[in-house]
Amino acid sequence: MLSNKISLTGVKPTGTPHFGNLLGAFYPVVRMSDEAKKTYVFIADLHALNAVKDREFIHKNTYEIAATYLALGINLEKAILFRQSDIPEVYQLATLLMNVTPKGLMNRAHAYKASVDKNLAKGEDADAGINMGLYTYPILMAADILLYNSDVVPVGQDQKQHVEFARDIAGSFNYIYGKDLLTSPEPIIPEDAATVPGLDGRKMSKSYNNYIPIFAPEKELRKLIMKIITDSKLPEEPKDPEESTIFHLYRAFANEAQTEELRQRFIKGGLGYGEAKQILFEAINEKIAPAREKYYDLMAHTEQIDAILADGAAKAREEAKKTLARVLKAMLG
Ligand code: TRP
Repeated sequence: MLSNKISLTGVKPTGTPHFGNLLGAFYPVVRMSDEAKKTYVFIADLHALNAVKDREFIHKNTYEIAATYLALGINLEKAILFRQSDIPEVYQLATLLMNVTPKGLMNRAHAYKASVDKNLAKGEDADAGINMGLYTYPILMAADILLYNSDVVPVGQDQKQHVEFARDIAGSFNYIYGKDLLTSPEPIIPEDAATVPGLDGRKMSKSYNNYIPIFAPEKELRKLIMKIITDSKLPEEPKDPEESTIFHLYRAFANEAQTEELRQRFIKGGLGYGEAKQILFEAINEKIAPAREKYYDLMAHTEQIDAILADGAAKAREEAKKTLARVLKAMLG
């Protein structure tokens, strides 16, 4: 039952949103925001800082993410859209939570461990190039989650551990300072977060550079779809839909009847990859076009986005202040 729950999610402004993000995060969050009692959605610009030092990039990407949510129709009656750095209470809470967070917990964080492993594989010092922003990343994320008394946190599989850390941190805070001071959050992994394939068939990801931006202009969208890598089967040959990136992407956008129809055409033979790509392009384009228009409209009027983010920040801050006051009182009297 989501209807009595507070939901919260953050998106790091570290790249133009792509179809993997659309299906795994944007769509599910927009859908959930209609069901939940209240939804906090923020652009996690503070979280980007451990890796991105280019403020122009963060700025532009923040607008892109906000405009994406708005173009997809997030319901602002129930969802509070804001920028993480507009809420100074989050830095304060993060610092306070450091005192109830075991260092060993941070040592176990996947992202940190992956960086260490990479260093060791290269024969470098374990902590080479790792800043404290990366190391303490899960504490800031716990502060995000706990500041707004979030019950549920929709995230991709890769972020599940971070939400569990937030639970651990809330638990240790409550154990020391008093039951129920902080709400223990639960991760929710949206079903359609199942990996969306990129142009080369691997998981769609910024780091593989195999992605399709959600709001690529029509011509570029078509060009990218035509670049999807296929095997060299001839048009007349039967093809296995399950092995085809084209089919997997189509299934994510089309309805069941359409998906079944394309499946049959793959199996029967007689459908060339060029034609299949054209069918995929048309399906995606039709679905995306209305939101795309809104998106470019907003990106041309960023002052509208600024106003919405400012409004969101004001609302989020009200809650943030209450939580911080409660925490400070418990810790320092
Ligand atoms: N760490 C998340 C990511 O990399 C972004 C994020 C920051 C977040 N704070 C959050 C997600 C709080 C959910 C809740 O994708």
